[in-house]
Amino acid sequence: MITRSTDVNSVRKLLQKMSPPFALVPTMGALHEGHLELIRKARQKVGSSGTVIVSIFVNPIQFDKASDLENYPQPLSTDLALCERAGADLAFTPPKESLYHADHSVLIRESLLTKHLCGATRPGHFDGVLTVVLKLFNIFQPNYAIFGQKDFQQLALIQRMARDLNLSTTVIGHPTVRAPDGLALSSRNTHLTASERADAPRIHRALCAARDISHTGEQNPSIYLEVARKHLLMNPLESFTIDYLELVDAETLQPTPSVTKPSFLATACFYGKVRLIDHIVIPS
Ligand code: PAJ
Repeated sequence: MITRSTDVNSVRKLLQKMSPPFALVPTMGALHEGHLELIRKARQKVGSSGTVIVSIFVNPIQFDKASDLENYPQPLSTDLALCERAGADLAFTPPKESLYHADHSVLIRESLLTKHLCGATRPGHFDGVLTVVLKLFNIFQPNYAIFGQKDFQQLALIQRMARDLNLSTTVIGHPTVRAPDGLALSSRNTHLTASERADAPRIHRALCAARDISHTGEQNPSIYLEVARKHLLMNPLESFTIDYLELVDAETLQPTPSVTKPSFLATACFYGKVRLIDHIVIPS
């Protein structure tokens, strides 16, 4: 049976009765197979006697648009059942007041890896992500924390925070889980209309088409960007727009002048107000 807690002090007490090692999977709920894979990975890391913790918290301070926060799906009872089935021992589902004092005033800010991609297009977003993740790490002091590579900039930032702030948690990335048609699973996919959902695999297809030219030894970033852009914008739906399309060094997350090291070709696209992100590795 999964144990549920909604309060920081009581979850700390509960944890004292649970056996290490501890693995944490932070989520905002509306769980899908991508999240469940992270929970299974957490179980693998701690074994049958360790403890898998899932946090479900729609973190208000990482939303740059109020409407996005208001419309975020919160199917809590389904989520708890899914967590239990995937092997979680403890679900932490705090209300906002349990994590944030009304006058909270300390934020974590990263200043280099956030310069591009979602860091540039969603000001303040990653301050909110890093702050809540550090709070969760402080509450649970997990041996492991599992994050999806789908959000590779988020993963890189959390790894950088763990390194730069000497955190004792090992941060582990897990590959992107996709629908059979290639679309990266996301809680936001449920907001797409039927025709948008049918069109959305174009994002992954466009990235694959660009990646495929790496076989020719091409090193010019603008060629990769052109191919991806052409595929993204071929007979698009009216509601489709590109937020960004960038090729960045896989380590520094800065735009690369020449593809001589592994890089990420990454995009954020809108269908109306629904923002989807995806990326692909361009080998050097
Ligand atoms: P959320 O979007 O709910 O995602 C929770 C975790 O699931 C993240 O690590 C994310 O990268 C991972 N994930 C989402 N879709 C995935 C997919 N298709 N394949 C693999 N992993 C996937 O990311 C957040 O919440 C928040 O920013 C959070 C880290 C919880 C902080 O509030």
